[in-house]
Amino acid sequence: MFNEISGRYDLINTVLSLGLHNLWKRKIARFIPKSDYKVRALDLATGTGDIATILARNERVSHVTGLDMSAGMLEVGREKMKDDPWGHKVEMKVGNAEQISFKDASFDYVTMAFGIRNVPSPLKCLQECYRVLKPGGRVAVLEFSLPKNPLIKQLNFVYLRGVVPFVGRLLSGHPFAYRYLNETIETFPYGQNFCALMEDAGFKKARQKPLSFGIATIYWADKT
Ligand SMILES: C[S@@+](CC[C@H](N)C(=O)[O-])C[C@H]1O[C@@H](n2cnc3c(N)ncnc32)[C@H](O)[C@@H]1O
Repeated sequence: MFNEISGRYDLINTVLSLGLHNLWKRKIARFIPKSDYKVRALDLATGTGDIATILARNERVSHVTGLDMSAGMLEVGREKMKDDPWGHKVEMKVGNAEQISFKDASFDYVTMAFGIRNVPSPLKCLQECYRVLKPGGRVAVLEFSLPKNPLIKQLNFVYLRGVVPFVGRLLSGHPFAYRYLNETIETFPYGQNFCALMEDAGFKKARQKPLSFGIATIYWADKT
C-alpha cells in the first residue's frame, strides 16, 4: 500500500495533520542521547526519510540509516536527499523493523515515527531496537495517541473517523489507504500501556511526552 501512495505521501501527511507532523517530527532531535562522540542513528519505518533528514541536520549525529519495507517510499526519500545539504549523511535501505539486518549494539539512537502501529508485533520490533542499540543508547518512538481531554478526544474521533478517510481517499486516489487509520490509532496501546510494552522489551524506565493535547506522543527509553 505504501508503494502505491508513496508519490503523494508527504503532501497527504501535511494536509491531514494540518502541518503538525513536521513539528512533532522535529522534536525527535531533542532526544538524541548525550555522548562524547558523534552518534550513529537508525530510523525504522523511515518512509520518505523525514526523521532521517532531521537527524542528519544535527551536528551531534555522524550517520543515519533509514530502513523501510517499501522500496517506493525509499525512492521518494532518496530523491529528497539529493537536494538536501545533509543528504550525504543518510543511507536508505530496504529492511524489516521486526528483523533488523544489523549486528547487536550497532547504533546509539534508534527512532521510529508512525511506524510501530503498522508492524505485526510491536513487542518484537522494540526487542529488535533494544538488540541493535549500544549500552547507553536510546530509542524514541513517535506515534498517534488519544487525547485525555474528553472534548478534544471527541473532536479527534470526528476528525479521524470522518475527515481522514474522505480526504485521504481523495488525495491518494487509493480506496483503502486511509480508511482504517482511525481503527489502528484507536486500538493501539498508548500512554502508560505503550511505556509498559517498551519495558517488556528490556528498556528501563520508559517515558512519554504527549504532543498537541495528546494527539501524538513521543516515547523514549534508554538501554542500560
Ligand atoms: C505511516 S508511514 C511513516 C513513515 C515515516 N516514518 C513518517 O513519519 O513520515 C509507515 C511506514 O512504515 C513502513 N513499514 C511498515 N511495516 C514495516 C516493517 N515491518 N518494517 C519496516 N518498515 C515498515 C511502511 O512502508 C511506511 O513507509
